[in-house]
Amino acid sequence: MVTQQPSPSRRVATSDDIEVSTYLEIAKEKEGQGSERKDETQRVAEGIVIIDFGSQYSHLIARRVRELKVYSEVVPHDSTWQEVEPINPRGVILSGGPASVYDKGAPLAPSWVYEKKTPVLGICYGMQVLAHQLGGKVVPGLKREYGHAVLHQNISGSPVFEGLETSIPVWMSHGDQIQELPPGFRALAYTDNSPIAVMGSDGKMFGLQFHPEVAHTPQGKSILENFLYRICGCSGTWTPDSFVTNAIQRIREQVGQGRVICALSGGVDSAVTATLIQRAVGDQLTCIFVNNGLLRREEAERVQRTFHGNLNMDLIYVDASERFLARLEGIIDPEEKRKAIGEVFIRVFEDAAAELSDADFLAQGTLYPDVIESKTSESGAAAKIKTHHNVGGLPKDMKLKLVEPLRYLFKDEIRGVGEALGLPEEIVYRQPFPGPGLAIRVLGEVTPEKLEILRACDWIVIDEIKGANLYHNLWQTFAVLTDARSVGVMGDYRTYGYVVAIRAVSSDDAMTADWARLPYDVLARISSRIVNEVPQVNRVVYDITSKPPGTIEWE
Ligand code: XMP
Repeated sequence: MVTQQPSPSRRVATSDDIEVSTYLEIAKEKEGQGSERKDETQRVAEGIVIIDFGSQYSHLIARRVRELKVYSEVVPHDSTWQEVEPINPRGVILSGGPASVYDKGAPLAPSWVYEKKTPVLGICYGMQVLAHQLGGKVVPGLKREYGHAVLHQNISGSPVFEGLETSIPVWMSHGDQIQELPPGFRALAYTDNSPIAVMGSDGKMFGLQFHPEVAHTPQGKSILENFLYRICGCSGTWTPDSFVTNAIQRIREQVGQGRVICALSGGVDSAVTATLIQRAVGDQLTCIFVNNGLLRREEAERVQRTFHGNLNMDLIYVDASERFLARLEGIIDPEEKRKAIGEVFIRVFEDAAAELSDADFLAQGTLYPDVIESKTSESGAAAKIKTHHNVGGLPKDMKLKLVEPLRYLFKDEIRGVGEALGLPEEIVYRQPFPGPGLAIRVLGEVTPEKLEILRACDWIVIDEIKGANLYHNLWQTFAVLTDARSVGVMGDYRTYGYVVAIRAVSSDDAMTADWARLPYDVLARISSRIVNEVPQVNRVVYDITSKPPGTIEWE
C-alpha cells in the first residue's frame, strides 16, 4: 500500500533533523502567505500544475506538457489549492531546483499535493522533495552527476516507461540522491551513479532523477506523455482552437458591455490580442497605434494598412515621433532609454485614450515568459537583467482594468492561435520587435540621423534574410548601429564611417538563444549591400554570441 500522507512519527535524517510533519506544517503556513497573490489563473478543462522550485528548466516542462496538448502552468512552490484549482489539475509535476532538501528553509511541496491524491511526478530536486516529504532519505551523492547518462530499467511494465527501450540516454544534473525509498515506493531504474534514478508507487507517484524536459533526454517527451495520458488520464484538450473558443468566452464574461482599448504594436502578440477581443466584443474595441519614431522603415504604414485596411479594426493612429525623440536627447544609458520611452508612451497613450473617456479596459499582449519572469523577480529568485516585460510598467493609479488573453501562452502558441484565427502569415510569423524599437539598437545617443542609417541597414538585412528563405527559421534578425567608427577605403578615398553589427539568433522563447550559423554568401551579400547602399557605414561585423552569456539585443 502506498502512503500518500507521511507518517507523522517517521523521522527523516536531515541536517536539521526535522520531522516530516513539521515540513508539512511549514508548507501549510506558507500556503497562507501564498494566498495574498492576486494573480488569476487560467480556467481550463484539464491541466497540470508545475510546482516551481527555481529550476532554469521549469518553463520548459510547461512547454513540453503543452506540446502534448495538455494545459500546464508553472506556479510558485507555496501556491495554495485555491490558486491552482481553476486549472482542474489532473496531475502535479514538481520541478527541479538548486536547493538541497536538507538546507534550512528549502522549498517543499504544499500539503495539498499529497492530500488531493492526484498523480505526482517529481523531477530531479522534485523527486528528492517527494522522497523527503514522504519519509525516504536523501543524501549528498558521492559525486555530482552532470551531463549524459544511460538509464537502465530494473523493473519492466511501469507505465512511465511504456513504449521505451530498457536502456535510454538521459540528462542528469544533481548533487543529492535518494538513498532510501519512501514507504510504498519501488526503484524502477538506475544509472551508474544513481542506484535509484527512477522511483514509483502504485499510488501514481513517480520520481525521475534526470530531466525529461530537455532535448538531451531524447525520449523525455515520451516519458512525459506516459505520465499525462497513462497515469493522469488526460485527454489532450489543449489546442489553439479550444484556446480561441475559451478565450472569447472569457473576454465576453470579463468585459460585458464595457469598452476596451488596445495598444497595437504591429507584432503578433498585440495582433492576436486585438483580434480575439474583436471576435469577442466587436466594436466595443478601439485600437491605438503610437508611432514612437523608433520604428523600422515603412512600419507605421504597414500597421495602418493591415489593421485598419485588412482587419477592419477601429484604429487611432498617433504620430508622437517628435515627442519621443526630444525626450531621448542626450540619453546614453540603455535602462534610461527604456524608462524614458516607457514614460512618454504612457503619457501619449493616456492622451489618446482620454478622448475615449468611456473606456473601461486596457488590453495588453502580455506573454507567459513575462509573467514567469516577473513572478520570479517578485520572489527575489532572479536578478533583473532588463526591464522589458510589460507586466510591471503601468502607472499604479491606472483606472483601466487589464484584459490579457495571452497571459498564459508561449510565443509559438500565440502563433498557433494567430493561425487558428486566420490572421495573415505576414503577421503570424513576424519576428519579435522590442517595444523601445530601434532606440536599443542605436548604441549611445539616439538621433534622427542615426535612426535613418539604421533603418537603411535593417531593411537590407531583412530583405536578404527573406530572399534566402531564412526569415521564418530565425527568432530575430536585425542590424545594430554601434557607436564605433572605423577607417575604410572606397575607390581611391579614405572613409571614416560607422561599424554596423548584424545579429541573427535562433531561439524558442528568447530566454536562451543561439547565434545563427548564417550561410557565408548571405552574410557577404548583406555586408556588400550595406557598405554600398548606406554611405555612412563602411564596416559590417557579425555577432557570434549566444544568450547566455550575451542578450539578444545589444542594449
Ligand atoms: P534580450 O535582449 O533580453 O531580449 O535577450 C529578449 C527578447 O526581448 C526583446 N526585448 C524587449 N522587448 N521591450 C520589449 O518589448 C524591451 O525593452 C526589450 N528588450 C529586449 C528582444 O527583442 C528579444 O526578443
